[in-house]
Amino acid sequence: MTPSEVLQDTHKRIIRDLRVSITDRCNFRCVYCLPETEEAANFYRHQRPDEHPSKQETKLCYTWKPRAQILTYEEITRMIRVASSLGLNKVRITGGEPLLRRNVESLIESIVALGTIDDLSLTSNGTHFPRLAKRLKEAGLSRITLSLDSLDRENFRKITGRNGLDDVLESIRLAKALGLTPVKVNAVIIRGLNDHEIGALAHFAVQENIVMRMIEFMPLDSGRAWQREHVVPGSEILERVQAEIPVAPLPAQHAAETASRWSLGDGQAELGIIAPVTQPFCGQCNRIRLTADGHIRTCLFSVHEHDLKPLLRNDSSDDKLAAELQRIVWNKEPGHQIGQSGFVQPERSMSGIGG
Ligand code: 5AD
Ligand code: SF4
Repeated sequence: MTPSEVLQDTHKRIIRDLRVSITDRCNFRCVYCLPETEEAANFYRHQRPDEHPSKQETKLCYTWKPRAQILTYEEITRMIRVASSLGLNKVRITGGEPLLRRNVESLIESIVALGTIDDLSLTSNGTHFPRLAKRLKEAGLSRITLSLDSLDRENFRKITGRNGLDDVLESIRLAKALGLTPVKVNAVIIRGLNDHEIGALAHFAVQENIVMRMIEFMPLDSGRAWQREHVVPGSEILERVQAEIPVAPLPAQHAAETASRWSLGDGQAELGIIAPVTQPFCGQCNRIRLTADGHIRTCLFSVHEHDLKPLLRNDSSDDKLAAELQRIVWNKEPGHQIGQSGFVQPERSMSGIGG
């Protein structure tokens, strides 16, 4: 593949990884994403009582995209085919909650049938996974990432707005049994909410032999109530795990890795620390995102997006789509500016972007 046949930007980063959100809808209301519960309002209110009077109401900050704007599975598969003709070989299906969309296994089958994607994974909150796991595996899914921010039933409900702990625990065991491995579990760590569970989550990873990824809270909440004080820095997360369990550094598997990786205890368990706020990894980024309504985002924090629906829906050729994709990627921003004076939070929350 010559440079003109790949997806490359002005910073010489080559894009290999596409995150595809297939729906912006979700049945959870996570404090860090769709904070539309009384608990979420209380959490933010208690954190900074006097400085955010405007944030003291529970607000419905987000309306779902109309169905007519949501890409069909055929349109998504075509986008992946065209992107993979330009060297892209890794796809993650996300949402919202992707398993709310009907017949996801048929999308997985179509992507597998392309024969160009080496790594096909899916991120889910785990509520519908137990029912669909076998079908997804049979369709050719390679791996799964599940969200688990708390091991305490009540705290889980407080963070996600739903009583979903048992479903996630069942999902983890089922994913392991089906060989959807390595099973990765995401925990967004928020000061005052679940940072006291860092040790317990690490012990759980050892007990289950899984990859536990502890993630710094990013300003991608629909309520725009994120504060720097809510972030537990990756370095502190590591210290707090180390106080409980011996860890040893693991080598990076590839240059674009977002997590610093650590072995946990003496088995197969692993800790990944994802610290986009305190240790940005933009310089090595090889990812772009396709939203459920057909917009390409070249960064999680992009303030400009590129709507590909017109091209997808007006009989444009694959060559034209490929050229447009290359043009968009060429202008990928150097990185995010969280913590700097020019930072602007994107309009979409994580549920509309895709984790
Ligand atoms: N900050 C960090 N991670 C987030 N996620 C969602 N919102 C945020 C945020 N504001 C992660 C969760 C979920 C995945 C889809 O995205 O870990 O598992
Ligand atoms: Fe739903 Fe995921 Fe957002 Fe939680 S983080 S509300 S599970 S989309």
